[in-house]
Amino acid sequence: MAEVAHHSFTAVILAAGRGTRFRSKHTRTKVMFPLAGVPMVEHILETLHGMSPEQIIIVVNEDVKSEIAEKYGTLFDLVVQEPQLGTGDALATAMPSVNDDVEKVLVLPGDVPLVTEKALRDLLDASEGSDAALLTFTPPELKGYGRVKVEDGFVTGIVEEVDADAVERQIDEVNSGIYAINRRWVDTALDRAREEFGTENRKGEYYLTDIVKFLRTRPLHYEPAHDLMGINDRAQLNDAGDVIQQRLLVKHARSGVTFVRANTSYVEARVRIGRDTTILPGTVLRGETVIGDDCEIGPMAYIEDSRLGDGCKVLCSRLTGVKAEEGVTIGPYANLRPGCNVEETAKIGNFVELKKATVGAGSKVSHLSYIGDAKIGKNTNIGAGTITCNYDGFAKHRTIIGDGVFIGSNNTLVAPIEIGDGAYTAAGSTLTKDVPPDALGVGRGRQENKEGYAAKFREKHSRKAESNDKTGDKQGKGNER
Ligand code: UD1
Ligand code: CA
Repeated sequence: MAEVAHHSFTAVILAAGRGTRFRSKHTRTKVMFPLAGVPMVEHILETLHGMSPEQIIIVVNEDVKSEIAEKYGTLFDLVVQEPQLGTGDALATAMPSVNDDVEKVLVLPGDVPLVTEKALRDLLDASEGSDAALLTFTPPELKGYGRVKVEDGFVTGIVEEVDADAVERQIDEVNSGIYAINRRWVDTALDRAREEFGTENRKGEYYLTDIVKFLRTRPLHYEPAHDLMGINDRAQLNDAGDVIQQRLLVKHARSGVTFVRANTSYVEARVRIGRDTTILPGTVLRGETVIGDDCEIGPMAYIEDSRLGDGCKVLCSRLTGVKAEEGVTIGPYANLRPGCNVEETAKIGNFVELKKATVGAGSKVSHLSYIGDAKIGKNTNIGAGTITCNYDGFAKHRTIIGDGVFIGSNNTLVAPIEIGDGAYTAAGSTLTKDVPPDALGVGRGRQENKEGYAAKFREKHSRKAESNDKTGDKQGKGNER
């Protein structure tokens, strides 16, 4: 393996813009918008993580400072840029916080989240021996990007599209916004750009792009172009979503996961999937979900923040915050809400809702049940239509069902209640009292049969109908049925 050069650098992420083109009522910065379930900026942080920078500085606006600080704690230095006077001003705001002894400053826009570690390493390498290097690319759609002018192997200027003339607009090499700059020259270049160009441009901003006029900057033309796409609006967020999905599906497939009609499923960035697991069409895997080996997931499974052991099956069901051990089968049409623990080989069948429930090893809740705030032991069978009445309008109460219990069909278990090991409960029972181990709990009216009742009932009604028919005829009206 080729040796990887080590660069000592500070990464500066520019993320103070308010992202007005996202047209959001809520979020005051676009870099917190999720891409494959992870905030855009976090993709960049993760990419940087593999490169061990000396320091990471994020330039933010006042509105999101606390949100970002809360989420990422003290891992990074936050610098507030207020007001936002442009990308040049954003870097200038960060510079006083950059360590003096780093060799380079790596500048990254917070809205270019797909950049790879390889691109960044290549850029740092390319900056060796000159003042700076710039990642450039040729996107399928040039719109919105700064055009890069190159002469004799150096960048001589970057022209923003709004400031470009017709000829400059034809240039198909554009600015990614990612620069590696020798730390020693950053401040001078920013000062000179500020003095000479100020905000004399169509946007009335301090352009970071102007610094290339004062630095010997190597362009590094990079492919594939989509790795460097900038995300200014939600249509571009869609495109980036497609790119990252494709990357994730390829990554999982290469590590031993089978997808059937891969492009019909959605897998978020943090999801882990074991080998020889098959993901069937229409499956959504979100958050911190971990799926074991040899599972069959889908079609149409929605699984969020859940952990599944090896050999599980989930068909047409929704799981959020669930832990399922080896060999569990779920669905079709089950809804497992947060706090559920389904132990090995247990079975959760159709139209079953679970909430904060433990279902012991080998137990079955096969049909049409609601089990909430409950603990079910091992090898217990819950009959169809069983409901735990866990809520009295004020508080939630627990249902505890032991090992080897047989709950008859259509039981109503009024919590708090405990059904002992090995107990039986009669079908159709409403149980309000505990059932001791090995007992039979019956909670329903006794059946009574009234001999001949149905026959008499029918006879009475058919006589009535006959006499109605006769009166109808007398009046000359049809008695239509
Ligand atoms: C910028 C570049 C353009 C390049 C494109 C690549 C400039 C002047 N233009 O344009 O040449 O092709 O990126 O995607 O640099 N930001 C701040 N503070 C500010 C302004 C912006 O932190 O005052 C941040 C934004 O949050 C954003 C990044 O800087 O993450 C880039 O700003 P944006 O407004 O998106 O620049 P572009 O118009 O895309
Ligand atoms: Ca941008």
